[in-house]
This record gives sequence, C-alpha cells and structure tokens, in this order.
Amino acid sequence: MQPSREFFDLQLRFADRVAALAGLSFEDALLDYTNLYIRFGLGRAFDRMHPVWREYADGLRTADDASAWTWHFYQTYAHETPPPHAAGTFGCFKYADESDDLIRLHFQYADPTGAAALGIERMPARLAELHALFVHVAHNRPQTRCVAGTSWLYHLTGYRRLFPDAYLASATVAPARFRNMPLWGQFLDRHGDVRPHPAAQFIERVARATHPDDLAGCFPLQPLTLEAPVDAFYAFHRVSVPER
Ligand SMILES: CC(C)(COP(=O)(O)OP(=O)(O)OC[C@H]1O[C@@H](n2cnc3c(N)ncnc32)[C@H](O)[C@@H]1OP(=O)(O)O)[C@@H](O)C(=O)NCCC(=O)NCCS
Repeated sequence: MQPSREFFDLQLRFADRVAALAGLSFEDALLDYTNLYIRFGLGRAFDRMHPVWREYADGLRTADDASAWTWHFYQTYAHETPPPHAAGTFGCFKYADESDDLIRLHFQYADPTGAAALGIERMPARLAELHALFVHVAHNRPQTRCVAGTSWLYHLTGYRRLFPDAYLASATVAPARFRNMPLWGQFLDRHGDVRPHPAAQFIERVARATHPDDLAGCFPLQPLTLEAPVDAFYAFHRVSVPER
C-alpha cells in the first residue's frame, strides 16, 4: 500500500504550523514532526545530513510548490523499510525483537482479498495470522516473556478483539511520536487514501492551535501503548508451548 499525495500534504500542512508555533525552520519541522524521513526509506536515524534528505530539503527551498516537490521526491525514493529488528511477518502482522525477552507487534495492510482488514469477515484471518506469529515466537524465541505494542489502532474494536484482556487492560496514552506511523497511520485507509473525517478534524485543530503544547492534541486518536506477558497471548491464541 502506497500512501496518496494527500497524506503528504497533510504532513506538510502540519509542519508549517509546527514551524510557526515552535520557532523551528520548515525543514526541521518536517524532520522532527512528520513521517517523511521514514517514508523516503532513509531509516530511523533522522540524520539531517543524510545525502538523500539533503537533496529533498535543498530542493524544497527552491521549489515553487512544496506539495509537488515532496510527491515527486517520494515517488523517486519511496521504498518500504521494515521496523527496526524485524523478526517475522505473518500476513498483516510483524513482530520485532525489542530486547532479549520482549517483542513488539506491528500492523500493516496485507490482506490478499482486498477486504477491510479489521472487518468481522476477516477476523478469522487476522486471528490465524496472530496464531502463526505466536507459534513462531514459542518455537524460535523461547526467551520471550513480554509482548508490547504502540498504535492508534488500539482504539478500534476491530483491532482490540484480536488481543487478550490482560494486554488491552494495560493500555496507556503514549507520548506523541510525531515521526511514526502509530500516529500518522490513523489518516489512511487500506488503499492509501486519506480518510476524510479524521483529516478534516485534524486540519481544523491544527488551524486553531496556538501553542506547541496543542500539537499532539490535533490528532484525533492518541496512540496507546500496551504490554503484557506472552503467556496471555499463548492462551488467547491457543498456542501450545514447547516445554521450557
Ligand atoms: C490499518 C488500516 C489497514 C485500516 O484500514 P482499513 O482496512 O481500510 O480499515 P477498516 O475499513 O477495516 O476499518 C476498521 C474500522 O475502524 C474504523 N476506523 C478506521 N480508521 C479510523 C480512524 N482513523 N478513526 C476512527 N475510526 C476508524 C472504520 O470506520 C471501521 O469501523 P467499522 O468496522 O465500524 O466500519 C489503515 O488504516 C492503514 O493501512 N493505516 C496505515 C498503517 C498503520 O497505521 N499501521 C499501524 C501502525 S502501528
């Protein structure tokens, strides 16, 4: 799934407001408050001297139309970069090795039918993917003790019903991660198009923001962060664990 041009426009608009409110240059606001660096496939070092980022930022300074330049640049450089320490992919789910005993869950649209990822019809498919993921963890990563996740998705019933109660009960609001998809992903549908309602709400709040402290609250859904023992997942997803 490739995000549409509107997704980039939304981020340019936000960076413009951030620059004005926080006293940053437009370039620094783009680097620190948008998902562009990651979308250009540059990793997660957020190095303002990265040659590809320099080419983008220098081009932006002379571009007549920031939206057209950004979209052109994305189409030239875009490639998917896996999350850090990616360990396995199971349909829409991935997990990454966060530390020796902790794995982190990630979600990205990859349903072969094209159907709504979190609709009730596809719930068995999503549960089967999580079952396969935790079978893999049980057999290949026996030292795992905990599972963590951070996303806007934990607000959605269609996502929450895929996880055990102990995990859901641990949810707390995460500090705003302005560079990451756990925040920006809420504006996209599975086709990469911008969802009109959350985007309109966001634009309206961004226009009304008067202080840097208002910025996180412009996003309709705040990412939630969750963590629970892996045994809760083994039980919920009916995974038999080899003897430890
Ligand atoms: C996750 C993703 C695939 C969901 O898109 P989708 O398959 O088109 O979504 P669905 O149609 O299945 O939506 C599921 C439900 O959530 C609701 N929903 C989706 N996005 C929403 C949002 N931003 N705000 C409120 N509700 C939302 C839908 O209205 C739907 O509700 P319903 O079942 O009552 O109709 C899409 O948002 C995406 O690709 N985002 C980018 C990746 C991402 O954010 N990953 C997580 C990073 S941690």
